[in-house]
Amino acid sequence: MKKIVIALDGYSSCGKSTTAKLVAAELGYAYIDTGAMYRAVTLYFLKHHIALTNPREIKDALDKVEVEFHYNPKTARNEVFLNGLNVEDEIRKMYISNQVSEVSVVPEVRHAMVAQQQKMGRKRGVVMDGRDIGTAVFPDAEVKVFMTADVNTRAKRRQEELLEKKQLVNLDDIRENLQKRDHIDSTRKESPLRRAEDAHLLDTSHMTIDEQVDFVLEKVASKI
Ligand code: C5P
Repeated sequence: MKKIVIALDGYSSCGKSTTAKLVAAELGYAYIDTGAMYRAVTLYFLKHHIALTNPREIKDALDKVEVEFHYNPKTARNEVFLNGLNVEDEIRKMYISNQVSEVSVVPEVRHAMVAQQQKMGRKRGVVMDGRDIGTAVFPDAEVKVFMTADVNTRAKRRQEELLEKKQLVNLDDIRENLQKRDHIDSTRKESPLRRAEDAHLLDTSHMTIDEQVDFVLEKVASKI
């Protein structure tokens, strides 16, 4: 069977990663959460007080950043490691969500992440979710889906996800963060969040996860 690249892009918290994980499991593909990579870089930059206005400092820092995914059989998920340390839980916290889009604007950061993502997907057989997968990372992806959903639905879903991790965050703060990130992500100069011309639009506001997965698998069926 032919191995392909499946690109799931879209706004924050509209179900991309949950859908991507299940689609990958169904097809026996690798799942790559590119948002986690930007979050890990953000954690490193914050820890080391990297000035986003200093390209030299950014370049030196990026040379020292190694982001990897390792499967954890205990949690049955791929977890993110930053320079050998498991940062899966840390990078999902609100202080990272509040900074990640500013870090993701920086062209040097994007170039480093995109190069790494292209390497990870070079053998194809991957489901990648993010903001620029279908437009910049894999413009030749066989299946592209652009996901969106009503902002209140997204904020509620995000709040539930955070609650599962024992993080109690106010709904208004979450909504504000989502809207701020969507704005920065869609208006940045370098590879902004936008729907690729050949991406299928998927509004998940009133859809179950199973329906979202079926939608993607249906698009995949004719390509493999
Ligand atoms: O997917 P997630 O919400 O974890 O992504 C966090 C942030 O990382 C996004 O808001 C965006 O600023 C950045 N990002 C990006 N390009 C990607 C994936 C994520 O700029 N491909």
